[in-house]
Amino acid sequence: MSARLFLDGVDDEANGVFLCIETSCDDTSAAVVAGREVRSSVVSSQNELHAQFGGVVPEVASRRHTELVNDVVAEAMSSAGVTWADISAVATTQGPGLIGALLVGMAAAKAIAYRRRLPLIPVNHLQGHIAANYALGVEPPFLCLVASGGHTLLAVVEEGVRYRVAARTMDDAAGEAFDKGARLLGLGYPGGKELDRLAARGDAAAIGFPRAAAKGRDFSFSGLKTALLYHLREMDEDDIVARRADIAASYQAAIVRQLADKTLSVALAEGVPSVAVAGGVAANSALRRELAERCAAAGLRLSLPPFALCTDNAAMIGLAAGFLPALPWPDYLGLDAYASDAEARPQRPRRGPNASPRA
Ligand code: KG4
Ligand code: ZN
Repeated sequence: MSARLFLDGVDDEANGVFLCIETSCDDTSAAVVAGREVRSSVVSSQNELHAQFGGVVPEVASRRHTELVNDVVAEAMSSAGVTWADISAVATTQGPGLIGALLVGMAAAKAIAYRRRLPLIPVNHLQGHIAANYALGVEPPFLCLVASGGHTLLAVVEEGVRYRVAARTMDDAAGEAFDKGARLLGLGYPGGKELDRLAARGDAAAIGFPRAAAKGRDFSFSGLKTALLYHLREMDEDDIVARRADIAASYQAAIVRQLADKTLSVALAEGVPSVAVAGGVAANSALRRELAERCAAAGLRLSLPPFALCTDNAAMIGLAAGFLPALPWPDYLGLDAYASDAEARPQRPRRGPNASPRA
């Protein structure tokens, strides 16, 4: 294992072996990451716990994170075969996400880092999703489609985890469109995965849901969700049950077509050689197929992380942390989590003129 590195200022990019924690929503996760190598990644999903409520209940998620976080960290350490002496920094998600859930991971990370006299690297969740692609060897510049339950955007990644937003959704996130569609179809929670599974048995051309998105680069999914609602209202219950797979496949195709159309046209307009995907929706099988075909036809390289690196996980937090400044012991104790990116900047403790985050 590599020796512990001394980091003497917030402007230094950290390296070495990181213990990473991510609890921004309903997955309690920890990982051990060294550079671009993921040595272990443990995710304890709370899906079953929240399924009874039909969605994530923030307070329930926070409490469950509290119960699980120590065991998940211990498992990540032992399956990576590392001891505390091997860890050079602790990385944790600072935001955006559910504030109570984030605070559990932050508190755990601070406690571990403080006790071990280690630096701490606060990581933005979206930069984490994007950085998952570094495990696959992608090199900037690349265009990353970030599509999760809370975000949908096209990021032009210029260097490390520094990116420029080239397009974003004007209303719902793609994951929300999947989840709401799944709910209207009476599928379980979480909806995206269930809808994907059902759609595999259906005919994507059966129903002509509107595929055209808003003009320009930005995404829009709320009209599609309304179209599904109206379509279902016209059908009787038996009909819906009989044609559920076709409806799911057609609805999914409309989301996927919009994501792929915009991704390809922005990639070509930006002149990047590679496309990457990130976030839970990047696990969607139809999206992966469509992007693979269209990127190949357009001569673009495509980075498709394995499912476990698309949905929330702590390994991606470690992959991003390698590009970010580490806060030296014990300057991070007053660090707060942030629920949205808009609240992010004022929250960072300042240490001198160069202490602002790079992305
Ligand atoms: O990135 P993620 O795990 O958590 C957030 O940061 O939001 O993304 C979760 C979203 C949910 O909306 C979920 O339904 C969707 O990703 N999702 C999928 C699939 N797997 C997860 N959507 C479509 N197809 C999938 N296979
Ligand atoms: Zn996420």
